[in-house]
Amino acid sequence: MTTTQPRIQWLGRWGFVLAATGSAVGLGNIWKFPYMTGEHGGGAFVLVYLACILAVGVPVMMAEIALGRRGRGSPVDAIRRVVTESGRTGAWSLLGWMAMLCGFLILCFYVVVAGWSFSYLGKMLSGGLAAGSVDDMVAIFAANNASPWNLGLWSTLVTVITMVIVGKGVQGGIERSVGWMMPGMVVMLLILIVYGVFSGGFAEALGFLFIFDAGSLSSEGLLAALGHAFFTLSLASGAILTYGSYLPADASIARTALTVAVADTLVALMAGLAIFPAIFANGMDPGEGPGLIFMSLPLAFQAMPLGTLFGVLFFTMLSMAALTSSVSMVEATVSWLCDRHGLSRRAAAWGAGSLLWVISTLAMLSFNIGADWTLAGRHLFDWLDYLTSRWLMPLGGLGTVLLAGFVLRADLLREELGLVAPGYTLWLLMVRYVSPLGILVIFVDALGIAEVEFGVHWPWLLAMLVVITLVGELSSPRLKRSLRG
Ligand code: PFF
Repeated sequence: MTTTQPRIQWLGRWGFVLAATGSAVGLGNIWKFPYMTGEHGGGAFVLVYLACILAVGVPVMMAEIALGRRGRGSPVDAIRRVVTESGRTGAWSLLGWMAMLCGFLILCFYVVVAGWSFSYLGKMLSGGLAAGSVDDMVAIFAANNASPWNLGLWSTLVTVITMVIVGKGVQGGIERSVGWMMPGMVVMLLILIVYGVFSGGFAEALGFLFIFDAGSLSSEGLLAALGHAFFTLSLASGAILTYGSYLPADASIARTALTVAVADTLVALMAGLAIFPAIFANGMDPGEGPGLIFMSLPLAFQAMPLGTLFGVLFFTMLSMAALTSSVSMVEATVSWLCDRHGLSRRAAAWGAGSLLWVISTLAMLSFNIGADWTLAGRHLFDWLDYLTSRWLMPLGGLGTVLLAGFVLRADLLREELGLVAPGYTLWLLMVRYVSPLGILVIFVDALGIAEVEFGVHWPWLLAMLVVITLVGELSSPRLKRSLRG
């Protein structure tokens, strides 16, 4: 059954921008981006990451918003409607299923990491992070994970808050909560940066993030930057497409997508400016890896005046960022349950939430009593991460750009995007050639099919891109028609 009521839309002018930025800004910006920058050598990684956001992230995001708004439905229904309108096979809605599944599966492990953030907020408040050395911090992190009751409590809390928000609806739940959480988060981040300016290590942090040293750029860093561009912009997971389905008809998709991407990038850079000063001021290693904010940072805060207060601020901000992303990951599923099966928002949210709770609890057990429950050498937690980041996201992204670039009727998309010639041509070239090639390269490398050495192969890759673009465009009927006059 498909309901025929007109689709609800964001209430405020900034509704979509706030919600989509809330989705984009999350653990990826504050937890992952700083440690990835640390691991991949600083400024050079940042520069490549910016290029990936602009060349691949923004065009793909525009395609997703356009698909959502044109189809006015969950990813499955929206894609089916749009391909039908273009006279193409409904089999493309498989892409919608994949996106919905991808968002849901990411959430199954994301709530566990968000749970860490909530539990660290609790520890900061109760003084549970009093430690003298990195070894003590490692022990605290391990003890936190060792108890399934403790870890389960926090991930359950994240699940419940997410479902309460989603159950209250697009306007009353998501839009209202992001309306105060996003500005609140930015204020906290600014306070933390000012603190960093006055407590030492700021100049070093600036240099680390913004001085471009080509020598520190590795192929691995390049691939990591491209993969992270997808994750951080919440692409190929149904989130942006579903939020786009609530976008009013008169909003400019290009401007909106650019605003979201710029805001997301600014927050990631600001998170770096909030975290690295404390790390440098205390003589710690910026390349610490995933433990950077859960081990090094709390230790650094402790050694600083008013550190506990700022630690509380930091983990409050991180928890809020995680929540505004979590709600977006399940929205595709909830919207599908409501549209297709006529469930109420609340029933859909709690139904999806129950399944989420079961899978995320099993994933959480990977850190304690289920440490031995592995399949082909991976725990459920690692499987969820692997399946989504290595398979579903790149495949979904590739499918989206091929659909937008080659399958759908060009006039429909052009009308939806509302772009004129140079902007539209640029977007089309990006989704037809630059994005697919970029995604294929991550895919080939990530699956270990071949090792892509950028340092050696970049001239070939570039030449290939130019040849493919020329051949593709010269053989396209659209171009022939326009050449004929
Ligand atoms: N963009 C989020 C982050 O950077 O933490 C992660 C994310 C949110 C991925 C929503 C996928 C998604 F659908």
